[in-house]
Amino acid sequence: MKYTVVPALNDEEFGQKAADVFIKAIEGFQSPPSVILPTGDTPLPFYDSLVDRAKASGLSEFYYCQLDEYLGLHAGHEKLFINQMKKNLLDPLNIRVRLAFESAANPGHMIDNVISRFSYAGHPDLAVIGIGGNGHVGFNEPGSAFEDGVRVVTLSEQTIYDNSQNWDLAQHGEFPTRAITLGISDLKKARQTILLVRGEKKANILARALTGPIGPSVPASYLQEQQNVTVVADMGALSQMSPDIVFK
Ligand code: GLP
Repeated sequence: MKYTVVPALNDEEFGQKAADVFIKAIEGFQSPPSVILPTGDTPLPFYDSLVDRAKASGLSEFYYCQLDEYLGLHAGHEKLFINQMKKNLLDPLNIRVRLAFESAANPGHMIDNVISRFSYAGHPDLAVIGIGGNGHVGFNEPGSAFEDGVRVVTLSEQTIYDNSQNWDLAQHGEFPTRAITLGISDLKKARQTILLVRGEKKANILARALTGPIGPSVPASYLQEQQNVTVVADMGALSQMSPDIVFK
């Protein structure tokens, strides 16, 4: 077993423990590390904690690298992942965006150019990721090969259903069906990985990802072959994991 589990009792503790692991990780790199960061509900307590810490003592510098993005939304759309990242973390921490899919968010823009910029960006130092209800990471849906790199993808029905729960059609328009994502091969290059998981609804997929068969049907299962992985999860998310693994 190559991963360490950090259990949290509630959202506040989850945010603090994730921030502890993150700060220790970025301080361990000699020059400012390149860091992949996720969107979704899961990381919000972590981002709140990082913003609080930054106000109190400052944070070491890091370069932000976007994990994934919807295609087809206009640049100012509030559901665009880059806009959520700016609001929740990048603006409060005053982090200059280094590598983002912004120009790919609008239909007709040069998606190929964006893909090649990412492909040549080299190795990320730290990948912070979440997990989708079907085991996706970024937008690497079930069936994605571990060799896949950054690319445009079609979202699965389950992801469209899950992610559209807080989507108001009148306010936000049609839900996107396509996205751009770093591939599992890009994530595998990270020197260190932090997986963030909250909520009992993720318990089954988390257990399958970390202890089930390794392969494309559960994209997050690539983590079992990855070195230097820390899983920060609440007790709901850990409820189907063996206590031997959680409290070893
Ligand atoms: C989205 C994103 C992922 C994210 C996942 C979990 O589809 N593409 O990067 O990790 O869903 O989201 P949540 O934390 O809201 O459950």
